[in-house]
Amino acid sequence: FRVPAPYNEPMRAYAPGSAERAALSGEIERLRKERVDAPCVIGGQEVRTGEVFTARSPHDHTCELADVHAARQEEVEQAIDAAREAKAEWSRWSFAARAAVFLKAADLLSGPWRPTINGATILHQGKSVHQAEIEAVAEFADFLRFNVAFAQQLYEQQPYSPEGVWNRMEYRPLEGFVLAITPFNFTAIAGNLPTAPALMGNTVVWKPSEKQAYAAHFTMEMLRAAGLPDGVINLVHGDGALATDVATAHPELGGVHFTGSIDALRSIWKKVGAGIDHFSSFPRVVGESGGKDFVVAHPTADVPALVVALGRGAFEYQGQKCSAASRAYIPRSLWPEVRDGLADLARQAKASMGDVSDLSTFMGAVIDRAAFEKHRDAIEGMRADGAEIIAGGGTDETDGWFVDPTVIVTTDPQADTMQRELFGPILTVYVYDDPDWDDTLALVDRTSQYALTGAVFSQDRAAGYHALDQLRDAAGNIYLNDKPTGSVVGQQPFGGARMSGTNDKAGSLLNITRWTSARAIKENF
Ligand code: SER
Repeated sequence: FRVPAPYNEPMRAYAPGSAERAALSGEIERLRKERVDAPCVIGGQEVRTGEVFTARSPHDHTCELADVHAARQEEVEQAIDAAREAKAEWSRWSFAARAAVFLKAADLLSGPWRPTINGATILHQGKSVHQAEIEAVAEFADFLRFNVAFAQQLYEQQPYSPEGVWNRMEYRPLEGFVLAITPFNFTAIAGNLPTAPALMGNTVVWKPSEKQAYAAHFTMEMLRAAGLPDGVINLVHGDGALATDVATAHPELGGVHFTGSIDALRSIWKKVGAGIDHFSSFPRVVGESGGKDFVVAHPTADVPALVVALGRGAFEYQGQKCSAASRAYIPRSLWPEVRDGLADLARQAKASMGDVSDLSTFMGAVIDRAAFEKHRDAIEGMRADGAEIIAGGGTDETDGWFVDPTVIVTTDPQADTMQRELFGPILTVYVYDDPDWDDTLALVDRTSQYALTGAVFSQDRAAGYHALDQLRDAAGNIYLNDKPTGSVVGQQPFGGARMSGTNDKAGSLLNITRWTSARAIKENF
């Protein structure tokens, strides 16, 4: 059989006055009123531990969305047991039967669940309607549908058989269970990390970020509505370090699927390493750990396109994408025009900053107090060091955690905010002398420990290709004449190397391959 051909989910515009906008606004209103009691889901059972934390809106201190039950050690252990128990049956389901669960989930997401998953992402993660639609619905549905097609491609990889022999490959799940630890910033990633291993016949313990627990709660309900059997994915809320400790203490940990910070990935890896004498297999660690993503412009760059890419790359979703543009290298000859354009864009973005549940808002608040304080301190630190702030620079915590879209200009290419991942709406610019193009490329390459995304702007094709070559190791996803954010599943497989992670390209055959342990069978006739 052939699985249905995957396609990118068409996005909705939610134009003022449209029925789809009214439906989403109505769902947001309903969600705001109904405070959810969000349990862990272990072996299909809702488990309320009584150790609750509150899910709140970052843009509205008064908006409390859910009481979320955090797992303790015993619940994480129960989740591992439930995953182990479910595996015997799930791993023997046919590929078609497993695929159908996730294809059905994609259809639910694109249909009846769309306003709920979108609304939850807007309210708890602070996304504008467009930012929620492109990922919580479209990218998530794309992961579900494309992964099925990638799995089929993998299963079709079969060896040569000479006469009298039949050689074949059988693609089994990994030994043991998989731990998925997922970030706050993308509902799509939070959905992909447990479902990709599950599609391949693995069973999973899923620990979402506390800052994304609300949409994770609805995602779990949607997967169950799609027919996901009990115990295949077990949702445990709460502390990631605790979940990692318990999972790495278990001999049957088979793999970890992670997206988050560099420190968290290092810590997971150390714990896996520390457990290496007691595991029954060598667990796979697949991790994405952030970026310090660049935009570098050649003197021939198209300035209006460059300005839009910088503004969108740096400020959409308040800069809280691991792919966000956060350091820019602009030639002196273009700087006056780029500077005016950027300052103007930042002003417009600030004017539309506010409560994202009003669907006309472009920018919301940053995710929590810790993020807010980090950004405020970083801006003040750069100001104290003599950097020029040409747009934004202010913060306001009256109603929510608002940080202005900010553009800092530095004469020091190694300044703090040129190197450190901030995960906020802060773009730092270094202006270089036009003849120093080659030196600037070298600077781009060695300034950051990360290598996730980057963008080159050049209308001179030779210069653009030279940059792609010089920056070969500086980014796992590089764009020529486009912003460094917004990879599309099936079009730009996503992931970075160096300290950005293991580069197992989310939304690709490479990623799916990590969740299988192949058996080669030779039969003599
Ligand atoms: N894939 C997203 C982007 O490209 C980030 O995770 O923006």
